[in-house]
Amino acid sequence: MRKIGIIGAMDEEVKRLKELMQNVQIKSIASMDFYEGYFEKVPLVVVRSGIGKVNAALCTQILIDRYDIEIVINTGVAGSLRNEIDIADIVLSTEALQHDMDARGFGYEMGVIPRMDKSIFTADIKLVNLAKKVCSEVLPSLGVHTGRVLSGDQFISDTKKKEWLVNTFDGYCTEMEGAAIAQAAYLNNIPFLIIRAISDKADQSAEMVYSEFEELAIDNTVKLLTELIKQID
Ligand code: ADE
Repeated sequence: MRKIGIIGAMDEEVKRLKELMQNVQIKSIASMDFYEGYFEKVPLVVVRSGIGKVNAALCTQILIDRYDIEIVINTGVAGSLRNEIDIADIVLSTEALQHDMDARGFGYEMGVIPRMDKSIFTADIKLVNLAKKVCSEVLPSLGVHTGRVLSGDQFISDTKKKEWLVNTFDGYCTEMEGAAIAQAAYLNNIPFLIIRAISDKADQSAEMVYSEFEELAIDNTVKLLTELIKQID
């Protein structure tokens, strides 16, 4: 069985998963507590990375170097960028990019990472399809969407900025870690998947709506993840 690394940015996003693990050993590296153990015989490392792309990339590299993980899954909440993607719905990444990578002054398009061979990182299609199937089993009445995830070191709570993101990158949801994890996974040749439950609409109402729906959104990702882990071969 392949060892899976699971990263959530915030305690709330990984707390329940940690509680469900067996034979847990906890180690603190770079101010992050890595919970190594098992869930239903599947070897796992669950960790709260902290918020933002730097924390997320560091965390992914530690999982790869120190724990030899073979798959990385990023779980958490996100703001919706499409009208048809509602609060509590799930977005599964087909790919991820950094919406705040800006080297336009140097002749690059927005979002393009200078001197890298790619800036849009493709998720593992087998994981995407398996997660989609598991969603239909454990969350049958929920909207599940597969598409591009946009990440940046910004909480998006402004309609104009949201429109710009939609028009520039055509993303499904926006958050603050996924593309950094995707980039680290790509550079290490490790398959990745981002699973995000929608907590807000990334507009003026985002801050208020987020607080109200964060828990419901996290409930959904936990249901999905616990079943998904068991079905990954
Ligand atoms: N995570 C959850 N909602 C978000 C938003 N609106 N912007 C960035 N990250 C988020």
